[in-house]
Amino acid sequence: VAPTVQLRGGAHLPLLGLGTWPLDDDQAAETVSLAIGTGYRLIDTAENYRNEKGVGEGIRRSGIDREELFITTKFNSEHHSVDGVRRAFETSSRLLGLDYIDLLLVHWPNPEQGHHVEAVQGIAALMEQGLVRAIGTSNYKPSHLQQVIDAGIVPDVNQIQLDPQRPRIEERAFHNEHGIVTQSWSPLGQGSGLLDEPGVVAIAKAHGRTTAQVVLRWHVQQGMVAIPKSSHPERLAQNLDIFDFELSGAELAQLYMLESGEAEIVDSDQFGH
Ligand code: A2P
Repeated sequence: VAPTVQLRGGAHLPLLGLGTWPLDDDQAAETVSLAIGTGYRLIDTAENYRNEKGVGEGIRRSGIDREELFITTKFNSEHHSVDGVRRAFETSSRLLGLDYIDLLLVHWPNPEQGHHVEAVQGIAALMEQGLVRAIGTSNYKPSHLQQVIDAGIVPDVNQIQLDPQRPRIEERAFHNEHGIVTQSWSPLGQGSGLLDEPGVVAIAKAHGRTTAQVVLRWHVQQGMVAIPKSSHPERLAQNLDIFDFELSGAELAQLYMLESGEAEIVDSDQFGH
């Protein structure tokens, strides 16, 4: 089981969890129950992944107490109003089979629609009713977060694409300044060859670990919450097994040298993630 970070509302967010994109319902049910059996307590899904029903099935199959888990979902941009968020919550909670959600996130700000603050206000209203336990945004830039903060709400979490090649240093500094936890999606740099980088391979060898473990350790050791996805039992286990070794300052610095330029910033939920 991963260590946790405590959020403002008192909820304990595990530093390492399971991402579920792009699993379908059947794969999600199988992977989620397997992951929970392996020790995962944080599960991340989204309306847009179309697998919330499977995630819920996996939770029930695992037999674990609901209170032991930290379940995260996100809603699409068509729900960016206080009433819309309420309806989105009702649909997600019905599909998941849960009466509350630990962390609900706005999936994409879609700032051109101009409702990215209202969307967060919708989550805050659900939190007041005890239906969600923490307020999240995803893919919000500092300028979007500042607008939310100016409206009187500080999100607990902002989830962004982040890995050693896209370290998002300015965004993280903004989050830290405001006490917002940074969550990393695609923490392994999916498809970019990060796990085969010679620099990462060398550090992995030095610790007797896999490159995925080194990269995930890079996230959690710096206070980021990572949510890698894997459907392979042995990878699920190794991705969680990163809390008994430490990267040196020099190794962290070496990993920062992999930075390959800014991540492509996309504002639309037409993309899978
Ligand atoms: P698979 O599901 O076949 O294990 P990200 O979360 O950064 O998007 O990365 C997910 C990708 O990384 C998936 O393709 C997943 O493949 C792969 N992956 C997850 N864990 C590991 C690991 N420990 N070693 C190698 N590849 C991994």
